[in-house]
Amino acid sequence: MSNALRIGVAGLGTVGASVLRILRDKAEMMTRQCGREIVVTAVSARDRTRDRGVDLVKIEWFDDPVALAKSENIDVFVELIGGSEGTARAAVEAALNAGRHVVTANKALLAYHGVELAKIAEAKGVLLNFEAAVAGGIPVIKAMRESLTGNTVSRVYGIMNGTCNYILTRMGEEGISFKDCLSDAQRLGYAEADPTFDIEGNDTAHKLALLTSIAFGTQIAADDIYLEGISNISLADIRAAEELGYKIKLLGVAVKTETGIEQRVHPTLVPTSSVIAQVHGVTNAVAIETDLLGELLLSGPGAGGNATASAVIGDIADIGKSRPGFQHGPVFGTPAKDLKPTSRAKMRTHAGGYFIRLNVHDRAGVFATIAKRMAENDISLESIVQRGSGASVEDAVIKTVVLVTHATTETAVKQALKAITEDGDLYDKPQMIRIERAG
Ligand code: HSE
Repeated sequence: MSNALRIGVAGLGTVGASVLRILRDKAEMMTRQCGREIVVTAVSARDRTRDRGVDLVKIEWFDDPVALAKSENIDVFVELIGGSEGTARAAVEAALNAGRHVVTANKALLAYHGVELAKIAEAKGVLLNFEAAVAGGIPVIKAMRESLTGNTVSRVYGIMNGTCNYILTRMGEEGISFKDCLSDAQRLGYAEADPTFDIEGNDTAHKLALLTSIAFGTQIAADDIYLEGISNISLADIRAAEELGYKIKLLGVAVKTETGIEQRVHPTLVPTSSVIAQVHGVTNAVAIETDLLGELLLSGPGAGGNATASAVIGDIADIGKSRPGFQHGPVFGTPAKDLKPTSRAKMRTHAGGYFIRLNVHDRAGVFATIAKRMAENDISLESIVQRGSGASVEDAVIKTVVLVTHATTETAVKQALKAITEDGDLYDKPQMIRIERAG
């Protein structure tokens, strides 16, 4: 036991309990693979009495996670509390300052304080590992930070929120309401404590912010991310997109443009024939485009206890295998002090194709007016189709017009939609969804 790696775990929810069970059940395997025992010596959680399927009797209990973080009896502090401020932040800071390695699944904390925490870790010569913070069990941080060293990244994009992908998949395949799909995702343990973080895109944005930093060697800039969630996506959008050969996914995209790094999270149409369109349910996928590789796509379980715990265990094992004087590289791939400030590209300069769905009053000339407004804004159309709106009573007088544009700018589309709205032929607000090129 003298050579054992001593682990303190703060936060014993779905993921924390899984971590403890796996370390217990696979102790022998871990020892063999790491060359030393990995032992949980201390824990901290809110409720001491809850049954988590693991015996805590021989493990030191801390009511205060910050006290656990500073304890002399741990080598690694595992933070599974969550939240960008408060206890989680204080505990991680305390652990790093005390010279403990840290493993965390906390994307919000790193999205807002990652650079300053990385500076402490790098100054102290300890590891700050966060594989579980992005895309659950997929080893994307390790791949980008280590395996892709020497690659120049041009774009990173992906499905990074299991809850949203689960909802969009079930809405599309089973015609189930948004609300019922969300309840199921919560019941299955995929959703965040506050599920608006999932459905409004914040969770994806936190993850994207971390990938952007590793991909482009830039400081983390979570507030520079354009954000749109999926609560505005209807079954009608999903059906119309499908008819035209597209699936709707909540994507996080970071891309180098002439005006800077464009970071955005929004519902996105991807061609049904693309690989990412085949990523269903709680599965996540991250695509990385580089000069040496072309496109690399990693996909796998993005949420849930065991999947996320798998990433935590991998991070612990990395520390178990490291030896003094032989640590891994910088936290975000580039030393924290050398990360460049981001040059933010504005959304109005975003260029790409657009899906537009308009419910219009069925009268002569409407189609022509819409086409005219598009032409006035130099927008070339790939397709334009008209359907019954599906709104039973009004179906006779309300029709749905769906347009897909060729590449154009966000400014042009917004101007065209403003003009169409002012023309007075719309029954309700226009829907506009961006289209992403995907392999
Ligand atoms: N709520 C997240 C998701 C969990 O649905 O993907 C993993 O971060």
